[in-house]
Amino acid sequence: MTPRHYTSVLDLTREETMEVLDRAARLRHEWHADHKVLKRLRGYTLAAIFEKPSLRTRVTFEAGMTQLGGHAIFLGPQDIQLGVRESIADVARNLSRWVQIIAARTFAHSTVTELAAWSRVPVINALSDLEHPCQALADFLTLQERFGQLQGLKLAYVGDGNNVAHSLLLMGALLGIDVAVAAPAGYAPRREILEQAQRLAERSGATISVTQEPREAVHGADAVYTDVWASMGQEHEAEQRRQIFASYRVTAELLAATGKPRTIFMHCLPAHRGEEVSAEVIDGPQSVVFEQAENRLHAQKALLLWLLGR
Ligand code: CP
Ligand code: NVA
Repeated sequence: MTPRHYTSVLDLTREETMEVLDRAARLRHEWHADHKVLKRLRGYTLAAIFEKPSLRTRVTFEAGMTQLGGHAIFLGPQDIQLGVRESIADVARNLSRWVQIIAARTFAHSTVTELAAWSRVPVINALSDLEHPCQALADFLTLQERFGQLQGLKLAYVGDGNNVAHSLLLMGALLGIDVAVAAPAGYAPRREILEQAQRLAERSGATISVTQEPREAVHGADAVYTDVWASMGQEHEAEQRRQIFASYRVTAELLAATGKPRTIFMHCLPAHRGEEVSAEVIDGPQSVVFEQAENRLHAQKALLLWLLGR
């Protein structure tokens, strides 16, 4: 049987995504109540492949497997050297014989989809240059918990139209949440992602918009989200990007420009205080960044169970 994968937000339907989010909320509640380790994934192993550094994704996948009664094996850049020491297809076909699920953080998105194409077990995108769907799951869980429901919300994303922005756009459009992006010229989200989001939004009723003007994007927003200006692999562009993005910093003034007193500030982390966000905002009362980080754990536990049919 072909396994279900989560290489993109769009690998799950709206209903399936809501199912995972509801399960995540229950898992979060149960975990807070008694920290009980479940037995649902007893004997199950996750192979976690990382071509790039990670704090949150690595720890939440490993801790999540432990809390579900299973086990995770971390495979860093030096361990398997995907596509160098061995082809992606061979790595996928080997791992499929030993483990029940794979998560992969890669440079090229095609590495994740190629793993999935050859794998007999589910493959999860743990961040690629195109998408970060697990982050989006945790973020929409955070929104749902903060506001009680997702319907009627508006999320504004200010900064680089990157992997995180792409997954937020797709999930917003899928679930019917308005997403407005403000990015400098040349740094907007990719055209194919915007087209997919627009198509989904027509069905879900969401409004998707892109502007170069941060104040326009945040108007009426319930959440203002930003991410680093230079993603992993773009370090050599960091200085140039600091200049291009200088007027895209999320400050207290920009947060106030939403016109809503309850607007929350979101960031996937790691953050650079004084660059994409001021310290005052990220460390202030409207910031939910550590809620988002915690929710990575609950959202991914729910996703693991869903993909494994447990
Ligand atoms: N947000 C996120 O994915 O963090 P890491 O890069 O630390 O995993
Ligand atoms: N856009 C960032 C997200 C890190 C979690 C990156 O790809 O480095």
